[in-house]
Amino acid sequence: MDLILIAAIGQNGEMGLEGQLPWHHPEDLRFFKETTKGSPLIMGRKTFESLPGVLKGRPHLVLSQATPDSAPPNVFFFQSWADIQEWCRREHCEKAFVIGGRQIYALLAPYCNILYITHIHSAFLADTVFPMEVLERFTVFQTIPLDGPSFTHYNAEVKCYRA
Ligand SMILES: NC(=O)c1ccc[n+]([C@@H]2O[C@H](COP(=O)([O-])OP(=O)(O)OC[C@H]3O[C@@H](n4cnc5c(N)ncnc54)[C@H](OP(=O)(O)O)[C@@H]3O)[C@@H](O)[C@H]2O)c1
Repeated sequence: MDLILIAAIGQNGEMGLEGQLPWHHPEDLRFFKETTKGSPLIMGRKTFESLPGVLKGRPHLVLSQATPDSAPPNVFFFQSWADIQEWCRREHCEKAFVIGGRQIYALLAPYCNILYITHIHSAFLADTVFPMEVLERFTVFQTIPLDGPSFTHYNAEVKCYRA
């Protein structure tokens, strides 16, 4: 199974502020939605709580020490990476996306073979920063510009890395 880390970071690795993204970037959100369409999304409990709702057509695999009594349709809670792997094996997943946040990137980056990182070329106020050491094991194989009306978004591009 391909395990793909997908993240957006500011020029200093900024990635979160007060439980949300530090920016509003419509082109990056579109890239995220199109890229992850139909695939399981692996995330930490805090990132799950930051979502505006359950994203259609994508099983949400949420890591948490807690086991809630109930969860919305297509949302599954797991207490360990081993349990998520078991789920993916059972479902015959060809790929899954690790969508954050910081704790989950740090935990699962060693198992990822591909990274899609949106580099936003601006500095932001942030309380959560991407673990940049993750990039050391990877090299860029493709760069995708994120085009759009320039006054609604920050200058950005997606770099695709492989191990
Ligand atoms: N820029 C981006 O691309 C991007 C992407 C995603 C998120 N974000 C931002 O990142 C921030 C959230 O990141 P975060 O690092 O604070 O939180 P997070 O990684 O989303 O979630 C942390 C939670 O995951 C659970 N967890 C972590 N390690 C675990 C383990 N080994 N086993 C079981 N459960 C585990 C715990 O849940 P319990 O406390 O329930 O046990 C922990 O509190 C937000 O601001 C969000 O908007 C940014």
